[in-house]
Amino acid sequence: MKFEIPPLPYAKDALEPHIGAETVELHYEKHHRGYLSKLRKQIEGKPEADASLEDLIRTKDGDVFNNAAQVWNHTFYWLSMKPDGGGEPTSELLDLLERSFGSFDSFRSEFKEAATTEFGSGWAWLVKDAGGELSVCKSSDAENPLQRGLEPLVTIDVWEHAYYLDYRNERARYVDAFLDHLINWDFVAANLVLAPLADDVHGEGNPQADRRYRKRAKAFAESGRAERAARHAAHPDK
Ligand SMILES: [Fe+2]
Repeated sequence: MKFEIPPLPYAKDALEPHIGAETVELHYEKHHRGYLSKLRKQIEGKPEADASLEDLIRTKDGDVFNNAAQVWNHTFYWLSMKPDGGGEPTSELLDLLERSFGSFDSFRSEFKEAATTEFGSGWAWLVKDAGGELSVCKSSDAENPLQRGLEPLVTIDVWEHAYYLDYRNERARYVDAFLDHLINWDFVAANLVLAPLADDVHGEGNPQADRRYRKRAKAFAESGRAERAARHAAHPDK
């Protein structure tokens, strides 16, 4: 079975004090791995086993969609954070956010609003559309912006399992910690470089663009960046 989840890109206690080791342990080992094992059982021996996760997200519904999307979303979420992240990005990315949202503070407010107002379980995202414009959106349960032809750049998980041990019912404090101390702007920058060019994202309507996207996604998955970061987090002196 080809579906796997990459190792965490940092040690499980590396996000403390903002996200505790117990939260990361349960979230990664039980929730993220749980979605993977359910997906594997659901598609074992079926043609879906040869599809990409992105194909399953774009074409399936029900349990296969839910588990495939949650595998993808969580891998993306772990990469969306890093120890000592947060705050404003460096100049080029800051310029882009200012052009798109008016100011960094406006981006911050929009992202926080999306993350705190998503009713029930879901996600908030910074995305790029087919015209190259950046925007913020939210999604319910396992939904993913790829379904809407949008290119995810960064995400926060606002399911309660992501923050309840550390923040109880205070989701806004978790979102503040994510924005001020954890968001990984290097990952956003990498996604902007690796994301398809502005004129070739058309979702399922354009098979050629989809192929080019998958090629880039594969290159990203095979780049080994997550594994290298995880090794460095575990052994920073090496
Ligand atoms: Fe989660």
